[in-house]
Amino acid sequence: AAVEQPVIVERQGRVVIVTLNRPAARNALNTEIMLALADDLAVLDRDPGVGCFVVRGSKKAFAAGADIKEMADKTFAEMYSEDFFAAWERFAALRTPKIAAVSGYALGGGCELAMMCDMIFAADTAMFGQPEIKLGVIPGMGGTQRLTKLVGKAKAMDLILTGRMMDAAEAERAGLVSRVIAADRLMEETLAAAATIATYGKAAVMAAREAVDRALETGLRDGIAFERRLFHALFATADQKEGMAAFIEKRTPTFTGK
Ligand code: CAA
Repeated sequence: AAVEQPVIVERQGRVVIVTLNRPAARNALNTEIMLALADDLAVLDRDPGVGCFVVRGSKKAFAAGADIKEMADKTFAEMYSEDFFAAWERFAALRTPKIAAVSGYALGGGCELAMMCDMIFAADTAMFGQPEIKLGVIPGMGGTQRLTKLVGKAKAMDLILTGRMMDAAEAERAGLVSRVIAADRLMEETLAAAATIATYGKAAVMAAREAVDRALETGLRDGIAFERRLFHALFATADQKEGMAAFIEKRTPTFTGK
């Protein structure tokens, strides 16, 4: 029998679909999944033929958090010296855009993984939460920081201190998710958005997401200066010349990533 892959990677044109594949464990995120994601996607991230990642779980669970069974018996010294969870930042740092297609539970590290993506498209069945407090810990994959930046202190404190879940509608009102989509149309609509992004010039796309991300990390004046430098730099690309010429000539542009 074929060995079960913890992560399935499929290419569909310029889009790469990444499926977390531990359905029986509700896609609990263990070290094996983390390394597979970080290593496989690092190679694809540098591939000019890849224009967008879509990360999904199963119908029932995007991911139910870090693997509690893997962590339960660890000591402080082990957690600290392994710098447990640090490697997840390799996933966050990928430069190709990534969309999380969330169906079912996105809890703890699952919610944090979704927030490491550039956008979250949520099925109407999606449930988000940071329930770590119920386990005697706190979020450890960036949740206290990213959730607070994305939805503000009021909602972040509510979720992180009570451990409750919020549904897709509340997550959209809070600004956590980009779109709420009927569950049976989630992949269709997510893949359409990913395919659209993947048609654009990759340098412009990477610059756009890098500039938006910078808004979360810096003040307005520095952020605008950073954006302007990237904007100017894109005039060194053939895709800028092509995109603007196509507009003026009333035709569809063909981007080459150059
Ligand atoms: N780690 C390890 N195993 C998990 C898991 C997790 N996070 N979540 C679910 N599983 C396992 C269950 O132990 C169970 O295994 P067995 O069949 O061997 O008993 C299997 O997945 C199915 O789980 P349930 O029977 O509980 O499924 P359900 O559909 O009734 O409930 C759920 C789903 C609400 C997601 C529930 O499983 C749950 O609450 N999971 C834990 C959620 C959680 O606490 N997440 C935070 C983890 S800590 C963290 O993420 C730290 C961080 O900041 C990175």
